[in-house]
Amino acid sequence: LNFNVSRERRYILEVLFNGLRRLEYRGYDSAGISIDSCNCSGSDVNRQIVTPPLVFRQEGNIESLVKSVYHDVDATDLNLEESFSIHAGIAHTRWATHGEPAPRNSHPQTSDDGNEFVVVHNGVVTNYEVLKETLVRHGFTFESETDTEVIPKLAKFVFDKANEEGDPGVTFSQVVLEVMRHLEGAYALIFKSRHYPNELIACKRGSPLLLGVKLAEEASIGASFNDTKFLSSNGQPKELFLSSDANALVEHTKKVLVIEDGEVVHLKDGGVSILKFDQAKGNRGRTLSRPASVERALSILEMEVEQINKGKYEHYMQKEIHEQPESLTTTMRGRLIRGGSCKAKTVLLGGLKDHLKTIRRSRRIVFIGCGTSYNAALASRPILEELSGIPVTMEIASDLLDRQGPIYREDTAVFVSQSGETADTLNALEYALENGALCVGITNTVGSAIARNTHCGVHINAGAEIGVASTKAYTSQIVVMAMLALAIGGDLISSQERREAVIDGLFDLPSKVKEVLKLDQEMKYLAKLLMAEQSLLVFGRGYNYATALEGALKVKEVALMHSEGILAGEMKHGPLALVDESLPIFVIATRDACFSKQQSVIQQLHARKGRLIVMCTKGDAASVCVGGSCRVIEVPQAVDCLQTVINTVPLQLLAYHLTVLRGHNVDQPRNLAKSVTTQ
Ligand code: G6P
Repeated sequence: LNFNVSRERRYILEVLFNGLRRLEYRGYDSAGISIDSCNCSGSDVNRQIVTPPLVFRQEGNIESLVKSVYHDVDATDLNLEESFSIHAGIAHTRWATHGEPAPRNSHPQTSDDGNEFVVVHNGVVTNYEVLKETLVRHGFTFESETDTEVIPKLAKFVFDKANEEGDPGVTFSQVVLEVMRHLEGAYALIFKSRHYPNELIACKRGSPLLLGVKLAEEASIGASFNDTKFLSSNGQPKELFLSSDANALVEHTKKVLVIEDGEVVHLKDGGVSILKFDQAKGNRGRTLSRPASVERALSILEMEVEQINKGKYEHYMQKEIHEQPESLTTTMRGRLIRGGSCKAKTVLLGGLKDHLKTIRRSRRIVFIGCGTSYNAALASRPILEELSGIPVTMEIASDLLDRQGPIYREDTAVFVSQSGETADTLNALEYALENGALCVGITNTVGSAIARNTHCGVHINAGAEIGVASTKAYTSQIVVMAMLALAIGGDLISSQERREAVIDGLFDLPSKVKEVLKLDQEMKYLAKLLMAEQSLLVFGRGYNYATALEGALKVKEVALMHSEGILAGEMKHGPLALVDESLPIFVIATRDACFSKQQSVIQQLHARKGRLIVMCTKGDAASVCVGGSCRVIEVPQAVDCLQTVINTVPLQLLAYHLTVLRGHNVDQPRNLAKSVTTQ
C-alpha cells in the first residue's frame, strides 16, 4: 500500500508482487491482485463516477500472475507510467481449500461485475453455505466454489441495504463490521471498494494479520514512533502494509502492529484507525455502531531481509539445512550457563521461569503438535521423562480434537509449532485452555497466535524458515525441548551429573552439526543410487524413533517418494514381511542404550537379504555390518538425547538431493503448504 507519495503504477505493482513472492511459500496454486483503474485519488471524489478497481487473477505461481498483468493485458487498459498521489492495492496467493485452483476461485473475490467490493481472505468461512443461500435468495449469483465469495457479496448487500434505507453515509468500516457479524470460522480479510476509493479495511478472527508502518521521516520521528497516537494523525506514514506474514513486510519496515482478533483496521487517505469489534455484543444482537477505538504500541520485527533471501544457495531448504550450526547457536544464545568454578551448569528460560513450579507439580505433560513439530516433540520425550520424572504423552492435534481426549487442570500441555498458527494446534490449544491445563507454547514466530494465547513459552529463535519442509526449525525445537527438560529437572542432586552432560552436549552440538554437514556429497551420491526407487523404509528406536519418522517424512513430502518411519521394536509385528532383496532400508544404529538391539535388527534384516543402509557412530562400521554387505553412513557422536539432531541432518540432505534429482519442486512440494491455517 502506498500513501501520500506520488508513485507510478509499475512501482505499486512491484510492491504487491514482491509481497506475494515473499508469501508464496504459504500457498502457491493461484494468485490475484486488485489495483485502481485510473487516478481517482482524493477524498472529494464523487462516489458515483469512480471507476471500478481492476482485478487480475491467475492459476499457477506468482510469476504467472505477473506475466498476465504485464504482458497479456491490453496496454491501453494498464498504463504502467500512470501516477497516483495515493493508492490502495491488494494481492493474494492461494492454497486451495474450497474449489480447484482456477482464476474464478482465486482471490480477490468480487461482489459483482462492477467490482463494487473486492476481498482477499486467509482462512475458512465455515457458515458460507447458509450465507450463500440467503444471498442467492436476494438475487446474487455466484461464479466460484470458494467460501470467500460470500464475503464481498455480503458487503454489497449490506451497503445496498443501508443506501435503500436512506443511509448513504454508511462508512466502509460500518459495512465491514456488519459483514463480520455474520461470518463464522477463521479469517484475515482485506476489503477494497469502488465506493471507498483510497480506503482499505482489514479485519481478522483466528488468522494472523500484521500492519507495517513506514514513516515519511523515520529519522526525525526518533523515539516517538512507539506512541501509536501518530497512527491516527493523517499524513505521517508514507507507506502502510497489511500482511498475514512478517516476511512480506520486512523489506519495507520493521515497525509493525500485531492485529488482534475482532479488530478492524481502517486505512483512509494515508491515516490509520483501529476499531475493536466486540463479538459477544454482536452475537447478542446489540448495536455495533460504536466500537471502541484501539491504541497500541508498535513492535519491532527482529528479522533481517537477508534471512529471507536464498543467498548462495539454490533452494531455501538447502540453505536452511546448511545454516543449522548457526540457527542452533541462536536458539541456545543466553539460555545456557556454564557456571563458574563452583557453580553448577544450568539453563535459563525467561519465558518459563514463573511457571516452572506449576509444571513440576503437573500430573503429566502432554505434547501437542502436527507434522514435523510433532516429531520434534517425540524426539524430546525420552529426556523430558527422564529429567522430570513426569509422565509425558504425545498428541497429534487433530487426533486429540477428533477424540476430545481428556485434558485436566493438573496437566501441562506443550504446544509445538514452527509457525504458531497451525489451525489444528490452535484449536487444540483452545480446547486445553477450556479444560484448565497450563499451556506452554514453543514456536518460531514471535507474536503468533500460539505465542500470544499460551500462558508461557519459549521462542525457538531459529530465524525465518521459508522451505515448506521444516529443517532448521525441527532441530531448534528439539534443542528447546531439551532445555525445557533441563529447566523442569531443576536442581535435583541425583540428576546433576546427567544434566551437566546434556548441557555440555548442547554446547558441542553446533560444531558437530557442522561436521555432519560434510556428508553432503555422500548423501548426494546415495540419492543418485536411490532416485529411481519406489519406496524407502527408515528404522529407528529409542531416541531415534522420531529420527526415523522425520527422515521418512522429509523423503515423502519433498522427494515425493513413498517412505515410512518404522519403530524397530515393531519390526517383527508386520514390517518384516516387506523385506526382500529389492526394497532399500535405512537403519539408524548410532551408539546409545538401544545399540545392541539395533545390531540384532540389522542381523535379522541381513538374514532376509534386506538392502541395508546403516547410519552408525564414527568408527562403528565393522560392528554394524557383520555378516552382510551394507552401505554405511558414519556420523559424529553426541550425547544420546541430542544424537537425533545429528542423525536427522544426513536424512534431510538425502531428501533434498533426492528431490533435486527426481526433478521436483524443493521449496514448494506438491499440494503442501508451510502453514496450514485451515482444518
Ligand atoms: C505443515 C507443514 C509442515 C509442518 C506442519 C506443522 O504440514 O508443511 O512442515 O511441520 O504444518 O506446522 P507448524 O507450523 O505448526 O510447526
